[in-house]
Amino acid sequence: MAVSSRGHFSSRLGFILAAAGSAVGLGNIWGFPTQAASNGGALFLIIYLLMVFLLAYPMLVAELTVGRYGQSNPIRSLKSVWPNGKAGAIAVGVAGMVVVSLILSFYAIVAGWLVGSFAGSGLELVGASDAVSWLTGFSTPRNLILMVVFMLMTMYVVQSGVTDGIEKWSSRLMPILFVLFVLLIGYIFTQPGAMEGLKMYLVPDFDHFSAEVVVSAMGQAFFSLSLGVCAMMVYGSYLNKEANLPKTAAQVACVDTGVAFIAGLLILPAMFVAKHNGVEIFSDSGELLSSDTLVFQVLPAMFHSMGTIGELISVLFFAVMLIAALTSSISMLEVPVAVAIEELNQSRKLAVSWIGAIIMVISGIIVFNFGDLFGLVIKLTTVYAQPIIGLFITLIAGWVWHRNQVLKELKQGYPEIEQGLFWKIWPTYVRVVCPILMVMVFFFS
Ligand code: PHE
Repeated sequence: MAVSSRGHFSSRLGFILAAAGSAVGLGNIWGFPTQAASNGGALFLIIYLLMVFLLAYPMLVAELTVGRYGQSNPIRSLKSVWPNGKAGAIAVGVAGMVVVSLILSFYAIVAGWLVGSFAGSGLELVGASDAVSWLTGFSTPRNLILMVVFMLMTMYVVQSGVTDGIEKWSSRLMPILFVLFVLLIGYIFTQPGAMEGLKMYLVPDFDHFSAEVVVSAMGQAFFSLSLGVCAMMVYGSYLNKEANLPKTAAQVACVDTGVAFIAGLLILPAMFVAKHNGVEIFSDSGELLSSDTLVFQVLPAMFHSMGTIGELISVLFFAVMLIAALTSSISMLEVPVAVAIEELNQSRKLAVSWIGAIIMVISGIIVFNFGDLFGLVIKLTTVYAQPIIGLFITLIAGWVWHRNQVLKELKQGYPEIEQGLFWKIWPTYVRVVCPILMVMVFFFS
């Protein structure tokens, strides 16, 4: 397939919103605040910022650069930077594609619950309580149907293509996300109890420091920036040669981290508002109740205790979560779809249909064996596979790819790069420091 027939982001802002949309997801709004709440508040925030800056950002530049150089799907892009290692490149590309599909298969289940909670809070307003309890109560049919609804939304966007689907929807939804966030925070801050949560979030508790906190922060940074599954590589392949990659990557990382930070400003105060209203958020021993309780039970319980305005806020809150999840899930589905379009010469519609169907089947298998599979798939994909594949991508970018070629690629959009600090540090950094830091993750975990 000719390069010119590939989709492209039509503007740099469009790309930034799409890549930030991929990065900003349940990891930011659900994962980050929960981890911060259970790992010393501000302490976790500080370590997380270090991890984003020291590890995730340099690797994001690597993934985007490989993608933009290849101007193709991950398998072909990796082959183009590693022409002598075809089997290796194929293995890493296929692994990324399989893992991201598995991530989507559990992500769609959680996002389905968000669909349920969103519709549920709307219906609560009109008093349809039977429907609400079906939508928000845990059952296999509900999990299955809502997952399919969310997958169909994801498939609809992806089948519309890069510019008309991914870029258009990310550019529409991301600003709405920011506005809703600000409204919610403005409201929460006026509520009794909020300041206690704010204090926990912004004043570090160093007693919580441990190697495990560092490891969790690293994993969180990885998941949050969508690294190690070729999603950013695919988005990079739709980016034009005028874009300054180090700068663009920095903007994406800043938006992602900014949203995680803002989500903390919302969720931690909200937890204490909930506590103030008599909702249980910490166990007797002072541990935070489990994370799914937080978003799907604790917060709705708080909204409920606030009467009608609470139900309205609840609709807004779940709309935010759903938007964030959708702009991430489309970047996941795009990985296997890009491979099918280019390697199997299929139309986008066809590729989206059968790949979406397979992911729904896998997701369905998880739904029917929830107790055994849900946690297992999350652990295998995010704790093990993402860092391992990420490590391989970094090794390929750092050791296999010719330094001059990397420089030539980065120079496009950033002609003066050789004189800057970035080029003095980054090449050695991704070769040596990133792999060592990552091996440490495995060692500690
Ligand atoms: N970064 C997304 C989030 O924070 C998750 C994601 C992982 C998206 C991997 C794409 C690829 O929710």
